[in-house]
Amino acid sequence: MAESTRWIGLSLGADICWPICYEELMRRLDLAIPHKKETVKLAVERLTIEPFDLKQACKYTVVIDRLTHWFHTSREWIKKAVLMDDLYVFNNPWSIQSMEKHTSYCAMMKLGMKIPETWMIPPKDYEPSNDLRPTLMSYARLFDLGKIGDSLGYPMFMKPYDGGAWVGVSKIDNESALRASYEQSGKRVMHLQSAVNPFDRFVRTIGLGPQTRFVSYDPGAPLHDRYMMDIDISDEEKQLLADITLTINAFFGWDFNSCEALRQGTEWYPIDYANPCPDSQVTSLHYHFPWLVKANIRWSVYCAVTQRQMRKNLDWEPFYKIAAEPDMPYRERIAAYAAIARKRFETDRFEEFCAKHLSHLDEIAYEFFGTDMCRDAVRKKVAALFPAHEVDSFTELFFGRIQKWRDQEGKA
Ligand SMILES: Nc1ncnc2c1ncn2[C@@H]1O[C@H](COP(=O)(O)OP(=O)(O)O)[C@@H](O)[C@H]1O
Ligand SMILES: [Mg+2]
Repeated sequence: MAESTRWIGLSLGADICWPICYEELMRRLDLAIPHKKETVKLAVERLTIEPFDLKQACKYTVVIDRLTHWFHTSREWIKKAVLMDDLYVFNNPWSIQSMEKHTSYCAMMKLGMKIPETWMIPPKDYEPSNDLRPTLMSYARLFDLGKIGDSLGYPMFMKPYDGGAWVGVSKIDNESALRASYEQSGKRVMHLQSAVNPFDRFVRTIGLGPQTRFVSYDPGAPLHDRYMMDIDISDEEKQLLADITLTINAFFGWDFNSCEALRQGTEWYPIDYANPCPDSQVTSLHYHFPWLVKANIRWSVYCAVTQRQMRKNLDWEPFYKIAAEPDMPYRERIAAYAAIARKRFETDRFEEFCAKHLSHLDEIAYEFFGTDMCRDAVRKKVAALFPAHEVDSFTELFFGRIQKWRDQEGKA
């Protein structure tokens, strides 16, 4: 059989730990996968940042990208490679660029998801420009913030319409706090959103291709304890959160994203799910970190070997068709969206592929995540983030949690 090599590129920034683990696991897997009339080998390389000719060839079949949302040279290189060289990248750079939190709220409200009531308000201040004054004088209506507050009720959250990483987010308990927050909001365009209050569970569902992982989250804990190790929600709830997350990800063309949802009683409310390129660091994921590395390997290898085609245009019509069904019960509707999502992520074919070609990943990962090399990779990330006197203790904390994962889940 003819042999060919497919290249997987890693487009990285401050990532330290997961790429070391990813590369080492790929080396240990030493894959040679029969596909059609070839034996496919995989090679991994880190992308560099340099001038490029728009017509130059691209040797990569798949790129795992961590930069698009903020580093534009890499983003534009990726766009060129998708358009001209048939590159498969996660995530879709156009979608990341244009679909902020606001779009994600509108779209999922339209699909009937239980998104808390949300308003957008014009900003308090503006960047000066020639047209600003006539525009505002002619068309900006004076409004009463207090009235909007009354209609939403307290507590509520004020947060940037395109936000992330908690920047500019405030919880607001009454009208005077609302007015004060608005005064301080500067040039940011803000949402006001009803709080899910109280909530009894907070779960982040990470989606990577068709794979999902449920992580209980404690927003009040220090960063290293926010992702909790145990999860106590039912299988039906997991199914619902998986359906919601895969729907969102397929809708926006995001292979890798996380969906934050809050539970109040028996209802789940998604509140923050435009997070393409979510946290991948061992310093926050710890116990869940091996899952992420393995999921990344499975999906990138699958996409590279099968030469999965990038969906360059987002096709929303099938989702809207279901949304337009007049009498479909909520749970059935979400399941119908998720069926489209699972088809787009080629779930059945992917699972078959993993069973056939990646069955040794569990054992290899179990071994690797117990090695000094893994401990050292954890240490490198810890050293980049923590003060010197805390490096030993935090390395042991995170590595210890990875060992707990090995004991509880990693045994092949
Ligand atoms: N509607 C809401 N109800 C309850 N808590 C919320 C709500 N919106 C935001 N929060 C809290 O604020 C945090 C940050 O808001 P979020 O929408 O997740 O913004 P970011 O994109 O910056 O993470 C959330 O993790 C949650 O703790
Ligand atoms: Mg959030």
